[in-house]
Amino acid sequence: MQKNNKIFEQKKYIELVKELNRADLGQKTAYISTFGCQMNAHDSEILLGMLYEMGYSKAENEKEADVIIYNTCCVRENAENKVYGNLGNLKKIKEERPSVKIVLCGCMMQQDTVIEKIKESYRNVDLIFGTFNMHVFPELLHMALTSNGMIIDVWETHDEFEAEAAAIRQYKHKSSVNIMYGCNNFCSYCIVPYVRGRERSRPKTDIINEIKGLVSDGVIEIVLLGQNVNSYGNDLINGESFTGLLYEISAIKGINRIRFMTSHPKDLSDEIIYAIRDCENICNHIHLPIQSGSNRILELMNRKYSKEDYLSRIAKIKQEIPNVSITTDIIVGFPSESEEDFLETLDIIKKVGYSTAYTFLYSKRTGTPAANMCDQVPESIAKERFNRLLKLLNDGIYEINKKLVGETVSVLAEEVNEKDNSLVSGKTYSNTTVHFKGDKSLIGQILNIKITECKTFYLIGELLA
Ligand code: 5AD
Ligand code: SF4
Repeated sequence: MQKNNKIFEQKKYIELVKELNRADLGQKTAYISTFGCQMNAHDSEILLGMLYEMGYSKAENEKEADVIIYNTCCVRENAENKVYGNLGNLKKIKEERPSVKIVLCGCMMQQDTVIEKIKESYRNVDLIFGTFNMHVFPELLHMALTSNGMIIDVWETHDEFEAEAAAIRQYKHKSSVNIMYGCNNFCSYCIVPYVRGRERSRPKTDIINEIKGLVSDGVIEIVLLGQNVNSYGNDLINGESFTGLLYEISAIKGINRIRFMTSHPKDLSDEIIYAIRDCENICNHIHLPIQSGSNRILELMNRKYSKEDYLSRIAKIKQEIPNVSITTDIIVGFPSESEEDFLETLDIIKKVGYSTAYTFLYSKRTGTPAANMCDQVPESIAKERFNRLLKLLNDGIYEINKKLVGETVSVLAEEVNEKDNSLVSGKTYSNTTVHFKGDKSLIGQILNIKITECKTFYLIGELLA
Protein backbone atom coordinates (compact mmCIF):
# COMPACT_ATOMS: atom_id res chain seq x y z
CA MET A 1 0.00 0.00 0.00
CA GLN A 2 2.68 2.47 1.07
CA LYS A 3 4.81 1.36 -1.84
CA ASN A 4 1.97 2.37 -4.16
CA ASN A 5 1.78 5.74 -2.41
CA LYS A 6 5.44 6.36 -3.18
CA ILE A 7 4.92 5.53 -6.83
CA PHE A 8 1.85 7.77 -6.80
CA GLU A 9 3.93 10.62 -5.36
CA GLN A 10 6.40 10.32 -8.22
CA LYS A 11 3.51 10.42 -10.69
CA LYS A 12 2.75 13.90 -9.35
CA TYR A 13 6.29 15.04 -10.19
CA ILE A 14 6.13 13.38 -13.60
CA GLU A 15 3.07 15.54 -14.34
CA LEU A 16 4.77 18.68 -12.96
CA VAL A 17 7.85 18.19 -15.15
CA LYS A 18 5.62 17.49 -18.13
CA GLU A 19 3.82 20.77 -17.48
CA LEU A 20 7.09 22.71 -17.21
CA ASN A 21 8.22 21.30 -20.53
CA ARG A 22 4.88 22.01 -22.17
CA ALA A 23 5.06 25.65 -21.10
CA ASP A 24 8.57 25.86 -22.55
CA LEU A 25 7.76 25.28 -26.22
CA GLY A 26 9.57 22.63 -28.24
CA GLN A 27 10.34 18.93 -27.74
CA LYS A 28 12.76 18.36 -24.85
CA THR A 29 15.41 15.69 -25.19
CA ALA A 30 17.66 13.68 -22.88
CA TYR A 31 20.91 11.82 -23.38
CA ILE A 32 22.19 9.07 -21.06
CA SER A 33 25.79 7.79 -21.00
CA THR A 34 26.09 4.50 -19.17
CA PHE A 35 29.27 3.15 -17.63
CA GLY A 36 29.85 -0.33 -16.19
CA CYS A 37 27.81 -3.48 -15.94
CA GLN A 38 24.49 -4.79 -17.28
CA MET A 39 22.71 -3.72 -14.12
CA ASN A 40 23.72 -0.13 -14.77
CA ALA A 41 22.64 -0.49 -18.39
CA HIS A 42 19.23 -1.68 -17.16
CA ASP A 43 19.04 1.21 -14.65
CA SER A 44 19.57 3.58 -17.58
CA GLU A 45 16.68 1.95 -19.44
CA ILE A 46 14.52 2.58 -16.36
CA LEU A 47 15.66 6.24 -16.17
CA LEU A 48 14.86 6.60 -19.85
CA GLY A 49 11.40 5.16 -19.17
CA MET A 50 10.80 7.87 -16.55
CA LEU A 51 12.13 10.57 -18.90
CA TYR A 52 9.75 9.44 -21.68
CA GLU A 53 6.89 9.64 -19.22
CA MET A 54 7.96 13.20 -18.38
CA GLY A 55 7.74 14.14 -22.05
CA TYR A 56 11.39 13.85 -23.09
CA SER A 57 12.59 12.06 -26.20
CA LYS A 58 16.03 10.54 -26.75
CA ALA A 59 18.74 12.94 -27.97
CA GLU A 60 21.19 11.66 -30.57
CA ASN A 61 24.10 13.20 -28.71
CA GLU A 62 25.05 15.42 -25.77
CA LYS A 63 25.36 18.56 -27.86
CA GLU A 64 21.63 18.83 -28.47
CA ALA A 65 20.26 17.33 -25.23
CA ASP A 66 18.35 19.36 -22.63
CA VAL A 67 19.21 16.83 -19.93
CA ILE A 68 22.55 14.97 -19.91
CA ILE A 69 22.87 12.03 -17.52
CA TYR A 70 26.00 10.06 -16.61
CA ASN A 71 25.09 6.79 -14.96
CA THR A 72 28.46 5.98 -13.43
CA CYS A 73 30.48 2.93 -12.34
CA CYS A 74 33.25 2.73 -9.73
CA VAL A 75 34.30 -0.93 -9.97
CA ARG A 76 37.60 0.09 -11.57
CA GLU A 77 39.51 3.36 -11.56
CA ASN A 78 39.50 3.83 -15.33
CA ALA A 79 35.67 3.87 -15.38
CA GLU A 80 35.81 6.77 -12.90
CA ASN A 81 38.46 8.62 -14.88
CA LYS A 82 36.32 8.43 -17.99
CA VAL A 83 33.49 10.18 -16.16
CA TYR A 84 35.78 12.99 -14.96
CA GLY A 85 37.17 13.37 -18.49
CA ASN A 86 33.69 13.61 -20.01
CA LEU A 87 32.55 16.04 -17.33
CA GLY A 88 35.41 18.33 -18.29
CA ASN A 89 34.17 18.27 -21.89
CA LEU A 90 30.66 19.25 -20.77
CA LYS A 91 31.93 22.60 -19.46
CA LYS A 92 31.77 24.03 -22.98
CA ILE A 93 28.22 22.78 -23.57
CA LYS A 94 27.08 24.32 -20.30
CA GLU A 95 28.70 27.67 -21.20
CA GLU A 96 26.96 27.72 -24.57
CA ARG A 97 23.60 26.52 -23.26
CA PRO A 98 23.31 27.29 -19.53
CA SER A 99 19.78 25.83 -19.40
CA VAL A 100 21.08 22.29 -20.00
CA LYS A 101 20.84 20.13 -16.87
CA ILE A 102 23.79 17.87 -16.04
CA VAL A 103 22.87 14.88 -13.89
CA LEU A 104 25.19 12.34 -12.25
CA CYS A 105 24.00 9.07 -10.72
CA GLY A 106 25.06 5.47 -10.18
CA CYS A 107 27.72 3.75 -8.07
CA MET A 108 30.40 6.45 -8.12
CA MET A 109 28.04 8.85 -6.37
CA GLN A 110 27.85 6.64 -3.27
CA GLN A 111 31.43 7.62 -2.38
CA ASP A 112 32.02 10.76 -0.27
CA THR A 113 35.38 11.43 -1.91
CA VAL A 114 33.71 11.62 -5.32
CA ILE A 115 31.06 14.06 -4.11
CA GLU A 116 33.77 16.27 -2.59
CA LYS A 117 35.74 16.28 -5.83
CA ILE A 118 32.68 17.18 -7.91
CA LYS A 119 31.71 19.97 -5.51
CA GLU A 120 35.20 21.38 -5.79
CA SER A 121 36.05 20.93 -9.46
CA TYR A 122 32.85 20.40 -11.45
CA ARG A 123 30.52 23.20 -10.40
CA ASN A 124 28.54 22.86 -13.64
CA VAL A 125 26.79 19.71 -12.37
CA ASP A 126 23.11 20.34 -11.52
CA LEU A 127 21.91 17.15 -9.87
CA ILE A 128 23.54 14.20 -8.12
CA PHE A 129 21.77 11.14 -6.76
CA GLY A 130 22.89 7.63 -5.84
CA THR A 131 21.99 3.99 -6.32
CA PHE A 132 19.41 3.89 -3.52
CA ASN A 133 17.12 6.70 -4.67
CA MET A 134 16.84 6.28 -8.40
CA HIS A 135 13.08 5.78 -7.98
CA VAL A 136 12.63 9.40 -6.86
CA PHE A 137 14.32 10.77 -10.00
CA PRO A 138 11.17 12.64 -11.21
CA GLU A 139 11.02 14.54 -7.91
CA LEU A 140 14.75 15.39 -8.08
CA LEU A 141 14.62 16.44 -11.71
CA HIS A 142 11.68 18.70 -10.96
CA MET A 143 13.73 20.28 -8.17
CA ALA A 144 16.69 20.78 -10.51
CA LEU A 145 14.49 22.35 -13.20
CA THR A 146 12.93 24.81 -10.78
CA SER A 147 16.03 25.92 -8.85
CA ASN A 148 19.63 26.94 -9.36
CA GLY A 149 22.80 25.46 -7.88
CA MET A 150 23.88 21.89 -7.36
CA ILE A 151 21.34 19.50 -5.81
CA ILE A 152 22.89 16.52 -4.03
CA ASP A 153 20.69 13.73 -2.70
CA VAL A 154 22.61 10.53 -1.98
CA TRP A 155 21.06 8.01 0.40
CA GLU A 156 23.09 5.76 2.69
CA THR A 157 20.78 2.82 2.19
CA HIS A 158 17.63 1.72 0.41
CA ASP A 159 14.14 2.42 1.74
CA GLU A 160 11.21 0.05 1.96
CA PHE A 161 9.62 1.64 -1.09
CA GLU A 162 12.26 0.47 -3.54
CA ALA A 163 10.18 0.03 -6.68
CA GLU A 164 10.91 -0.03 -10.37
CA ALA A 165 9.40 2.11 -13.08
CA ALA A 166 8.88 0.63 -16.54
CA ALA A 167 12.01 0.59 -18.69
CA ILE A 168 12.47 1.69 -22.28
CA ARG A 169 14.19 -1.32 -23.82
CA GLN A 170 17.18 -1.16 -26.12
CA TYR A 171 15.88 -4.24 -27.97
CA LYS A 172 12.26 -4.97 -28.72
CA HIS A 173 12.59 -8.73 -28.32
CA LYS A 174 14.84 -9.06 -25.32
CA SER A 175 14.88 -7.48 -21.92
CA SER A 176 16.82 -7.54 -18.67
CA VAL A 177 14.87 -8.01 -15.46
CA ASN A 178 16.33 -7.25 -12.03
CA ILE A 179 15.63 -10.09 -9.62
CA MET A 180 17.72 -8.74 -6.75
CA TYR A 181 19.87 -5.81 -5.73
CA GLY A 182 23.07 -5.53 -3.71
CA CYS A 183 25.66 -8.05 -2.61
CA ASN A 184 26.65 -9.71 0.68
CA ASN A 185 29.88 -11.30 -0.42
CA PHE A 186 32.50 -8.64 0.24
CA CYS A 187 35.16 -9.97 -2.10
CA SER A 188 38.18 -8.12 -0.80
CA TYR A 189 38.86 -6.17 -4.02
CA CYS A 190 35.28 -5.14 -4.75
CA ILE A 191 33.50 -1.87 -4.00
CA VAL A 192 30.02 -3.11 -5.02
CA PRO A 193 28.75 -4.15 -1.53
CA TYR A 194 29.61 -0.66 -0.27
CA VAL A 195 27.82 1.22 -3.05
CA ARG A 196 24.88 -1.11 -3.75
CA GLY A 197 24.14 -2.29 -0.20
CA ARG A 198 23.08 -5.69 1.14
CA GLU A 199 21.22 -8.30 -0.91
CA ARG A 200 17.53 -7.60 -1.42
CA SER A 201 15.44 -9.99 -3.52
CA ARG A 202 12.47 -8.59 -5.40
CA PRO A 203 9.19 -10.31 -4.51
CA LYS A 204 8.55 -13.18 -6.89
CA THR A 205 5.15 -11.88 -7.92
CA ASP A 206 6.69 -8.53 -9.00
CA ILE A 207 9.23 -10.36 -11.15
CA ILE A 208 6.68 -12.72 -12.70
CA ASN A 209 4.25 -9.86 -13.41
CA GLU A 210 6.98 -7.80 -15.00
CA ILE A 211 7.99 -10.72 -17.22
CA LYS A 212 4.39 -11.47 -18.24
CA GLY A 213 4.01 -7.81 -19.21
CA LEU A 214 7.20 -7.97 -21.27
CA VAL A 215 6.06 -11.14 -23.03
CA SER A 216 2.76 -9.54 -23.98
CA ASP A 217 4.84 -6.69 -25.41
CA GLY A 218 6.75 -9.06 -27.72
CA VAL A 219 9.77 -10.02 -25.59
CA ILE A 220 11.01 -13.58 -26.15
CA GLU A 221 14.37 -13.43 -24.35
CA ILE A 222 14.78 -12.54 -20.68
CA VAL A 223 18.08 -11.86 -18.91
CA LEU A 224 17.72 -12.14 -15.12
CA LEU A 225 20.09 -9.78 -13.33
CA GLY A 226 21.66 -9.76 -9.87
CA GLN A 227 25.17 -9.54 -8.39
CA ASN A 228 24.72 -13.12 -7.16
CA VAL A 229 21.51 -14.56 -8.58
CA ASN A 230 22.09 -17.94 -6.90
CA SER A 231 21.26 -16.45 -3.52
CA TYR A 232 17.90 -15.10 -4.73
CA GLY A 233 15.30 -15.54 -2.00
CA ASN A 234 17.70 -15.98 0.96
CA ASP A 235 16.40 -12.72 2.43
CA LEU A 236 12.71 -13.43 1.74
CA ILE A 237 10.61 -14.95 4.47
CA ASN A 238 8.56 -17.23 2.24
CA GLY A 239 11.37 -19.63 1.31
CA GLU A 240 11.73 -18.63 -2.34
CA SER A 241 14.82 -19.89 -4.16
CA PHE A 242 16.50 -19.13 -7.45
CA THR A 243 15.74 -22.63 -8.70
CA GLY A 244 12.03 -22.20 -7.91
CA LEU A 245 12.04 -18.84 -9.68
CA LEU A 246 13.73 -20.33 -12.75
CA TYR A 247 11.11 -23.09 -13.08
CA GLU A 248 8.28 -20.60 -12.72
CA ILE A 249 9.69 -18.20 -15.29
CA SER A 250 10.43 -21.07 -17.64
CA ALA A 251 6.75 -22.08 -17.53
CA ILE A 252 5.54 -18.66 -18.71
CA LYS A 253 4.17 -19.14 -22.21
CA GLY A 254 5.97 -17.20 -24.94
CA ILE A 255 9.50 -17.10 -23.50
CA ASN A 256 11.99 -18.75 -25.80
CA ARG A 257 15.19 -17.90 -24.01
CA ILE A 258 16.15 -17.28 -20.39
CA ARG A 259 19.62 -16.19 -19.33
CA PHE A 260 20.90 -15.05 -15.97
CA MET A 261 23.95 -13.41 -14.46
CA THR A 262 25.97 -13.43 -12.29
CA SER A 263 26.41 -16.77 -10.52
CA HIS A 264 28.84 -17.00 -7.63
CA PRO A 265 30.63 -20.39 -7.82
CA LYS A 266 30.20 -20.99 -4.07
CA ASP A 267 26.39 -20.85 -4.45
CA LEU A 268 25.85 -22.69 -7.74
CA SER A 269 23.84 -25.68 -6.54
CA ASP A 270 23.16 -28.95 -8.36
CA GLU A 271 19.49 -27.94 -8.46
CA ILE A 272 20.31 -24.86 -10.55
CA ILE A 273 22.35 -27.01 -12.92
CA TYR A 274 19.42 -29.46 -13.23
CA ALA A 275 17.03 -26.57 -13.94
CA ILE A 276 19.24 -25.44 -16.83
CA ARG A 277 19.41 -29.03 -18.06
CA ASP A 278 15.68 -29.69 -17.76
CA CYS A 279 14.10 -26.44 -18.96
CA GLU A 280 14.32 -26.15 -22.70
CA ASN A 281 14.09 -22.38 -22.72
CA ILE A 282 16.91 -21.77 -20.22
CA CYS A 283 20.03 -21.17 -22.32
CA ASN A 284 22.86 -23.64 -21.90
CA HIS A 285 25.21 -20.87 -20.86
CA ILE A 286 26.66 -20.15 -17.42
CA HIS A 287 28.66 -17.09 -16.47
CA LEU A 288 30.81 -18.26 -13.57
CA PRO A 289 33.54 -15.81 -12.51
CA ILE A 290 36.72 -17.56 -11.35
CA GLN A 291 38.76 -14.35 -10.70
CA SER A 292 41.98 -16.32 -10.05
CA GLY A 293 43.16 -19.92 -10.34
CA SER A 294 45.42 -19.72 -7.28
CA ASN A 295 44.03 -20.98 -3.98
CA ARG A 296 46.22 -18.56 -2.07
CA ILE A 297 44.85 -15.59 -4.04
CA LEU A 298 41.25 -16.88 -3.90
CA GLU A 299 41.57 -16.95 -0.12
CA LEU A 300 42.94 -13.38 -0.05
CA MET A 301 40.10 -12.36 -2.36
CA ASN A 302 37.60 -13.84 0.12
CA ARG A 303 35.95 -15.84 -2.64
CA LYS A 304 35.13 -18.82 -0.39
CA TYR A 305 35.95 -21.57 -2.93
CA SER A 306 39.13 -23.28 -4.06
CA LYS A 307 40.35 -24.03 -7.54
CA GLU A 308 39.34 -27.67 -6.92
CA ASP A 309 35.79 -26.67 -5.81
CA TYR A 310 35.43 -24.60 -8.94
CA LEU A 311 36.65 -27.37 -11.23
CA SER A 312 34.29 -29.85 -9.63
CA ARG A 313 31.36 -27.45 -10.34
CA ILE A 314 32.57 -27.21 -13.95
CA ALA A 315 32.75 -31.01 -14.20
CA LYS A 316 29.17 -31.30 -12.94
CA ILE A 317 27.97 -28.61 -15.36
CA LYS A 318 29.63 -30.31 -18.33
CA GLN A 319 28.31 -33.71 -17.30
CA GLU A 320 24.71 -32.54 -17.00
CA ILE A 321 24.42 -29.93 -19.78
CA PRO A 322 25.69 -31.03 -23.19
CA ASN A 323 27.24 -28.27 -25.36
CA VAL A 324 27.22 -25.88 -22.42
CA SER A 325 29.01 -22.61 -22.88
CA ILE A 326 30.95 -21.28 -19.89
CA THR A 327 32.13 -17.70 -19.52
CA THR A 328 34.03 -16.01 -16.71
CA ASP A 329 35.63 -12.94 -15.14
CA ILE A 330 39.34 -12.87 -14.33
CA ILE A 331 41.42 -10.34 -12.40
CA VAL A 332 45.16 -10.09 -13.07
CA GLY A 333 47.62 -8.47 -10.68
CA PHE A 334 45.76 -8.84 -7.37
CA PRO A 335 48.09 -7.80 -4.48
CA SER A 336 50.93 -10.29 -3.97
CA GLU A 337 50.06 -12.34 -7.08
CA SER A 338 53.25 -14.21 -8.00
CA GLU A 339 54.21 -15.79 -11.32
CA GLU A 340 53.26 -19.14 -9.77
CA ASP A 341 49.80 -17.87 -8.81
CA PHE A 342 49.33 -16.50 -12.29
CA LEU A 343 50.30 -19.84 -13.86
CA GLU A 344 47.47 -21.42 -11.83
CA THR A 345 45.07 -18.98 -13.53
CA LEU A 346 46.41 -19.98 -16.94
CA ASP A 347 46.03 -23.62 -15.93
CA ILE A 348 42.36 -23.26 -15.06
CA ILE A 349 41.68 -21.51 -18.37
CA LYS A 350 43.17 -24.49 -20.19
CA LYS A 351 41.11 -26.92 -18.12
CA VAL A 352 37.72 -25.18 -18.43
CA GLY A 353 37.69 -23.98 -22.05
CA TYR A 354 35.85 -20.65 -21.78
CA SER A 355 33.69 -19.33 -24.63
CA THR A 356 34.38 -15.78 -23.48
CA ALA A 357 36.12 -14.13 -20.55
CA TYR A 358 35.96 -10.60 -19.19
CA THR A 359 39.48 -9.82 -18.08
CA PHE A 360 40.52 -7.02 -15.76
CA LEU A 361 43.72 -5.54 -14.42
CA TYR A 362 43.34 -5.30 -10.66
CA SER A 363 42.29 -1.77 -9.71
CA LYS A 364 42.84 -0.55 -6.17
CA ARG A 365 39.54 0.67 -4.66
CA THR A 366 39.83 2.80 -1.54
CA GLY A 367 37.74 1.40 1.29
CA THR A 368 38.12 -2.26 0.29
CA PRO A 369 40.37 -4.62 2.31
CA ALA A 370 42.60 -5.34 -0.72
CA ALA A 371 43.52 -1.66 -1.00
CA ASN A 372 45.44 -2.01 2.30
CA MET A 373 47.25 -5.21 1.37
CA CYS A 374 50.96 -4.81 0.99
CA ASP A 375 52.81 -6.08 -2.02
CA GLN A 376 50.74 -4.45 -4.78
CA VAL A 377 51.90 -5.86 -8.13
CA PRO A 378 53.85 -3.38 -10.33
CA GLU A 379 51.80 -2.28 -13.35
CA SER A 380 54.39 -3.47 -15.88
CA ILE A 381 54.28 -7.03 -14.50
CA ALA A 382 50.47 -7.06 -14.34
CA LYS A 383 50.24 -5.83 -17.94
CA GLU A 384 52.71 -8.41 -19.17
CA ARG A 385 50.66 -11.17 -17.48
CA PHE A 386 47.45 -9.68 -18.86
CA ASN A 387 48.76 -9.99 -22.43
CA ARG A 388 49.74 -13.62 -21.90
CA LEU A 389 46.30 -14.29 -20.44
CA LEU A 390 44.55 -12.75 -23.45
CA LYS A 391 46.63 -14.79 -25.89
CA LEU A 392 45.72 -18.05 -24.16
CA LEU A 393 42.04 -17.11 -23.84
CA ASN A 394 41.71 -15.98 -27.44
CA ASP A 395 43.33 -19.15 -28.79
CA GLY A 396 40.89 -21.20 -26.69
CA ILE A 397 37.86 -19.14 -27.76
CA TYR A 398 38.86 -19.60 -31.42
CA GLU A 399 39.11 -23.39 -30.95
CA ILE A 400 35.64 -23.53 -29.35
CA ASN A 401 33.98 -21.37 -32.00
CA LYS A 402 35.77 -23.18 -34.85
CA LYS A 403 33.95 -26.37 -33.89
CA LEU A 404 30.68 -24.66 -34.88
CA VAL A 405 31.72 -24.22 -38.53
CA GLY A 406 29.45 -26.44 -40.63
CA GLU A 407 26.88 -26.72 -37.80
CA THR A 408 23.38 -25.27 -37.84
CA VAL A 409 22.58 -23.19 -34.77
CA SER A 410 19.51 -21.26 -33.65
CA VAL A 411 20.11 -17.52 -33.57
CA LEU A 412 17.91 -14.72 -32.27
CA ALA A 413 18.20 -11.91 -34.84
CA GLU A 414 18.76 -8.69 -32.87
CA GLU A 415 19.69 -5.83 -35.18
CA VAL A 416 20.85 -4.76 -38.61
CA ASN A 417 24.63 -4.59 -38.52
CA GLU A 418 25.79 -1.01 -38.00
CA LYS A 419 28.83 -1.27 -40.28
CA ASP A 420 27.30 -3.31 -43.10
CA ASN A 421 23.54 -3.03 -43.43
CA SER A 422 23.27 -6.06 -45.71
CA LEU A 423 24.01 -8.09 -42.57
CA VAL A 424 21.87 -8.93 -39.55
CA SER A 425 23.51 -9.69 -36.19
CA GLY A 426 22.15 -12.06 -33.59
CA LYS A 427 23.09 -14.30 -30.70
CA THR A 428 23.32 -18.07 -30.40
CA TYR A 429 21.89 -19.93 -27.43
CA SER A 430 25.33 -19.66 -25.83
CA ASN A 431 25.46 -15.90 -26.43
CA THR A 432 28.01 -15.86 -29.29
CA THR A 433 27.43 -13.18 -31.94
CA VAL A 434 26.63 -14.35 -35.48
CA HIS A 435 26.43 -12.13 -38.58
CA PHE A 436 24.49 -13.30 -41.64
CA LYS A 437 22.93 -11.84 -44.81
CA GLY A 438 19.43 -10.56 -44.18
CA ASP A 439 17.25 -7.53 -43.55
CA LYS A 440 15.34 -5.89 -40.74
CA SER A 441 12.25 -8.06 -41.30
CA LEU A 442 14.16 -10.89 -39.56
CA ILE A 443 14.68 -8.99 -36.31
CA GLY A 444 13.09 -10.67 -33.33
CA GLN A 445 12.92 -14.10 -34.96
CA ILE A 446 14.79 -17.21 -33.90
CA LEU A 447 16.37 -18.54 -37.08
CA ASN A 448 18.36 -21.56 -38.21
CA ILE A 449 21.76 -20.34 -39.28
CA LYS A 450 24.46 -22.50 -40.82
CA ILE A 451 27.87 -21.37 -39.55
CA THR A 452 30.34 -20.87 -42.41
CA GLU A 453 33.26 -19.03 -40.79
CA CYS A 454 34.79 -18.43 -37.38
CA LYS A 455 36.43 -15.10 -36.48
CA THR A 456 37.51 -15.74 -32.86
CA PHE A 457 34.91 -13.48 -31.16
CA TYR A 458 32.08 -13.83 -33.66
CA LEU A 459 30.78 -16.16 -36.34
CA ILE A 460 29.61 -15.73 -39.93
CA GLY A 461 26.68 -17.78 -41.17
CA GLU A 462 23.94 -18.28 -43.73
CA LEU A 463 20.23 -18.22 -43.15
CA LEU A 464 18.65 -21.59 -43.98
CA ALA A 465 15.34 -21.44 -45.79
N1 5AD B 1 39.72 -4.53 -9.94
C1 5AD B 1 39.57 -5.24 -11.07
N2 5AD B 1 38.47 -5.91 -11.39
C2 5AD B 1 37.44 -5.88 -10.52
N3 5AD B 1 36.22 -6.45 -10.56
C3 5AD B 1 35.56 -6.10 -9.45
N4 5AD B 1 36.32 -5.30 -8.68
C4 5AD B 1 37.51 -5.16 -9.33
C5 5AD B 1 38.71 -4.47 -9.04
N5 5AD B 1 38.87 -3.77 -7.91
C6 5AD B 1 35.79 -7.33 -11.64
C7 5AD B 1 35.50 -8.75 -11.14
C8 5AD B 1 34.01 -8.83 -11.20
C9 5AD B 1 33.70 -7.92 -12.37
C10 5AD B 1 32.30 -7.44 -12.46
O1 5AD B 1 34.57 -6.83 -12.17
O2 5AD B 1 36.09 -9.67 -12.04
O3 5AD B 1 33.54 -10.16 -11.41
FE1 SF4 C 1 31.76 -7.80 -6.00
FE2 SF4 C 1 32.17 -10.29 -5.11
FE3 SF4 C 1 29.75 -9.16 -4.82
FE4 SF4 C 1 30.60 -9.86 -7.27
S1 SF4 C 1 30.21 -11.27 -5.55
S2 SF4 C 1 29.63 -7.91 -6.69
S3 SF4 C 1 32.81 -9.46 -7.15
S4 SF4 C 1 31.66 -8.50 -3.85
